[in-house]
Amino acid sequence: MCASSVCQKGPLVFYGKDGGVMISIKNLTKIYQNGSQSVKALDNISLHIKKGEIAGIIGYSGAGKSSLVRCLNMLEKPTAGTITIDNREITSLSDEELRVARREIAMVFQHFNLLSSRTVFGNVAFPLEIAGVPKREIKQRVEKLLSLVGLVDKAAVYPAQLSGGQKQRVGIARALANDPKVLLCDEATSALDPETTKSILKLLKDINCQLDLTILIITHEMKVITEICDTVAVLENGSIIEMGNVVDVFTRPQHPTTRAFVQTVINTEIPEPVRQHIGQGGDGKVIRISFIGDHTEKPVISRIVKKFDVDANILYGNIDHLQDTPFGGLIIKLTGQQDDIARAEEYLAGQGLQIEVITNEH
Ligand SMILES: Nc1ncnc2c1ncn2[C@@H]1O[C@H](COP(=O)(O)OP(=O)(O)O)[C@@H](O)[C@H]1O
Ligand SMILES: [Mg+2]
Repeated sequence: MCASSVCQKGPLVFYGKDGGVMISIKNLTKIYQNGSQSVKALDNISLHIKKGEIAGIIGYSGAGKSSLVRCLNMLEKPTAGTITIDNREITSLSDEELRVARREIAMVFQHFNLLSSRTVFGNVAFPLEIAGVPKREIKQRVEKLLSLVGLVDKAAVYPAQLSGGQKQRVGIARALANDPKVLLCDEATSALDPETTKSILKLLKDINCQLDLTILIITHEMKVITEICDTVAVLENGSIIEMGNVVDVFTRPQHPTTRAFVQTVINTEIPEPVRQHIGQGGDGKVIRISFIGDHTEKPVISRIVKKFDVDANILYGNIDHLQDTPFGGLIIKLTGQQDDIARAEEYLAGQGLQIEVITNEH
């Protein structure tokens, strides 16, 4: 359990207490059939989400994100494949078993979906009433949940009197009412302004930390992923095109779509004046060196100049932070004999740095 509202999870322990798998999706396909028209929304998806993890799924509109969430809570029946949640294959449950299992798979929606005729207290109490929890217990539980989301003073208020962020806090408290195993958030912050988004994401992170709750965040916004997710899968046309640890995926994006998402939060573009300067040619090889983590502290440039008979002219450099990991890019022009330059490059690559050739003029 976290001692404070600031999450204590470090990169080494982010897989939760026992590191087991909470959600396992295997070869999931979803085809919508409307008359003679069929749409393949999910195409053979396989994905594992560990206990206690905040996993993100990012994709453009139409990528299949909502279809994936609806399959996870079985609001949509998969066309093929299996979904296992906490070692229980939910794709093979009877309707009755599913009704019970759904209580453990909570959902937070983009447009909150609150009951306007019920107070904040009444909204959070609703799933408990349905589950047949005794009244006294409901009261205690709702008060605890409202305290968790910071809305104790709003218990008697109706949703119409709340701000968007407060409505989503109610949505989150309601989702947590039945003590779920997983929390699915489908564009949960997409209707909120940036500041409110930040506070809701912080709340989700606190909840993840305090309750060790596994959270799946579905979004089209990169900053949501970089802010709180441990892992990410990039979804496009119903397929996962890239996945892994957030820092790994976004500091070394392989697919153009992943790169486009990275561009929205991190500037990897070469500034125009630098680009023009490079375009003017001249002898030498212009390379981009990308580095992550510790490398930002190593004097690699001075080393290659000392070790090899080359000159290194720094044209541009930047360092960013992704979560707590520093990473950056340096654009340098190497001049000297071709084989010396090649040896210098080899040395840099041997240091675990990523090298990309921008121009090579000799
Ligand atoms: N009920 C449905 N019937 C037919 N096609 C659907 C249905 N729901 C979604 N789709 C289609 O499936 C694809 C994925 O949609 P969706 O899962 O909503 O994507 P996202 O949430 O990433 O925007 C889209 O082409 C969409 O038009
Ligand atoms: Mg959607």
